Amino acid sequence: MTTRNILVTSALPYANGSIHLGHLVEYIQTDIWVRFQKMRGHNVHYVCADDTHGTPIMLRAQTEGITPEQLIARVWHEHFNDFSAFHVEFDHYGSTNSNETREYAEDIYKKLKSAGLIEVRSIEQYYDPVKSMFLPDRFIKGECPKCHAKDQYGDNCEVCGAAYAPTELINPYSAVSGAKPEMRHSDHYFFKLSDKRCQEFLREWTRSGTLQQEAANKMQEWLGTEGENKLTDWDISRDAPYFGFEIPDAPGKYFYVWLDAPVGYMGSFKQLCNSRIETAGDFSAQLSGDATSCCAKDRGSRVDFDEYWKQGSNTELYHFIGKDILYFHALFWPAMLEHSGFRTPTRLFAHGFLTVNGEKMSKSRGTFITARSYVEHVKNTEYLRYYYASLLNGTMGDIDLNLGLTEKGVDQKEGFVAKVNSDLIGKYINIASRCAGFINKRFGGLLFEGEPVLPELQMQSGYYYLSKPIQERIVDAYENRDYSRALREIMAYADQVNQFVDEYKPWIMAKDASKDKELQQVCTMALNMFRWLTILLKPVLPTLAKNVEEFLSIPPLEWKDAGVPLPAGHKINEYKHLMTRLDPKLIEAMVAANKESLQPTTQVQSEQRHAVHQQHAITPLSDTISIEDFSKIDLRVARIVNAEHVEGAEKLLKLTIDIGEEKPRTVFAGIKSAYDPEKLKGRMTAMVANLAPRKMKFGLSEGMVLAASGSESGLYILSPDEGAKPGMRIK
Ligand code: 2FM
Ligand code: ZN
Repeated sequence: MTTRNILVTSALPYANGSIHLGHLVEYIQTDIWVRFQKMRGHNVHYVCADDTHGTPIMLRAQTEGITPEQLIARVWHEHFNDFSAFHVEFDHYGSTNSNETREYAEDIYKKLKSAGLIEVRSIEQYYDPVKSMFLPDRFIKGECPKCHAKDQYGDNCEVCGAAYAPTELINPYSAVSGAKPEMRHSDHYFFKLSDKRCQEFLREWTRSGTLQQEAANKMQEWLGTEGENKLTDWDISRDAPYFGFEIPDAPGKYFYVWLDAPVGYMGSFKQLCNSRIETAGDFSAQLSGDATSCCAKDRGSRVDFDEYWKQGSNTELYHFIGKDILYFHALFWPAMLEHSGFRTPTRLFAHGFLTVNGEKMSKSRGTFITARSYVEHVKNTEYLRYYYASLLNGTMGDIDLNLGLTEKGVDQKEGFVAKVNSDLIGKYINIASRCAGFINKRFGGLLFEGEPVLPELQMQSGYYYLSKPIQERIVDAYENRDYSRALREIMAYADQVNQFVDEYKPWIMAKDASKDKELQQVCTMALNMFRWLTILLKPVLPTLAKNVEEFLSIPPLEWKDAGVPLPAGHKINEYKHLMTRLDPKLIEAMVAANKESLQPTTQVQSEQRHAVHQQHAITPLSDTISIEDFSKIDLRVARIVNAEHVEGAEKLLKLTIDIGEEKPRTVFAGIKSAYDPEKLKGRMTAMVANLAPRKMKFGLSEGMVLAASGSESGLYILSPDEGAKPGMRIK
């Protein structure tokens, strides 16, 4: 087998938020692949960095009253610690705000410019006169031009899903200051993706096996058919104030964050190369740039940047990414590299999204879980690595973290808890826990040696042997990132080993002193097979594997050890518990702690809140919702034009309501016990205008009138103050 030289990256996380379980899908997926390749003896460098530039980071720092540099330094440490807790082991973790990334960004830009692929054009954009800044689409809000929902973002409507330009919003306002934005001109720098050279190159690149089938199909869609010119130029500049790199010879103009983000792969790798030179030359391991960079193995051998990045390099380059950022990695990035004299990626590995319990992660349901929170509650992060691996299959399909939540708590026969406990504890750990004790207690920790007493136990021919075909299937599955298949194969093998133990029953042999040798031979075989299983699982469970290495008193396991028994008479250490069952209570506690309404900022507040509830015995308040959630409810001032009894209805009155629309609406309201219809006619009230119409026994109800009620009897419809007109929005 020839040794491959491989550079691997995961997408760079933004430096303005915490790592959550959704992010971890990718880092765990990549880390498993990297560990697997390293165990196979290949030369692998895994780099990543924080993605630190852009308007959101700049504004967040302002809100916190710190500099962007302070913010990104703090977040860098948080991210790095979170990844470490999940055993994601980068060879280098840097920051895009580094000298190295700046140099490559400038270099690429200059080369694109001299190739005639940069163009300056004046564009019109919304400007916030209060904050004195141009506003990115996300920071402009207003009324949706399609469905008229209020407070929608400048690029798409969250209510009706329409996509549009921010200029199409009705009554736009700045989400930063609330001011009415003005249209202003500004010179922007464009990367000419529409240039024939880019189109031709990308068409070729797409077809050369660099993409998964689903991704290649998407690319075809973006590129259009031969001769069609569907790609438009890419705006790569932003105006000051902006946190990022100023464009050479263009004062006040900055590289758009997505220009330098992938260059961060190069910058981070360059820092890795530098650290190797410095340590190899016996300098102090001081890294260039800033404090936000770290190498896992500063003392590794030298690595040459150009060998990995020059055009025509015969090393391999893989980017693990989410399917949402395919566009940047499959179009902009390879086109930038190709036309600035660098190599292009060997392959892009895109994955799908994470759902939790079949739904998008949700703060109100407690399923928006940060890495930190998982560590605090569940502690053992290898449970999650294993569970994710059992679902990942190398495609762009979404995966679901099934926490097994039911109304009565977590169901341990379902999902995460069931998978981890039945596979890892029930099948894998079980082998060692059933056999190790005999070797420790009865044979002083020594494995069997000498003439076999059970000659039929031929290592290489029994059904329990880790045969070459099984090994090859597992290698193939890991190589293709089909960890789900790899783990199915591994667990099928664990079943065979357990079958072996069940067949020879060491616990029965142990009762018969004359069967001592048999007992030692059987347990030795079982431990050898346990060791092989550990090799197979090591990319997924690196810490557990390390503990097994210690217990078996062996050097770090490599792939070539698979199927090879330990030397006869080898002495192992005392067996200690390697892994405990995953307790469903930990999951319950984690979910409860992540429910937004249960996250008081201080203990004092929590107690105060409790005391208030005690005093008034009121129904506890509902989960906290965001202003965006609230703005989805379209509340209107309404006039009750008519009110009448409904034949056969016990509780309902039929109301005819005017909210300033052409035609009045019909609403069936459960207020009969409290109101005489005659007295309601002409009254003003409040109503939810965008509630989905509800078909009732007596007709269609097209909204809901608001009324207050408490534990005592009584019902009170709301009234606006004098002057309010039908149709006015209530906010
Ligand atoms: O989508 C994101 O989270 C980006 N920060 C990913 C950047 S990946 C690479 F291009 F740097
Ligand atoms: Zn809309």
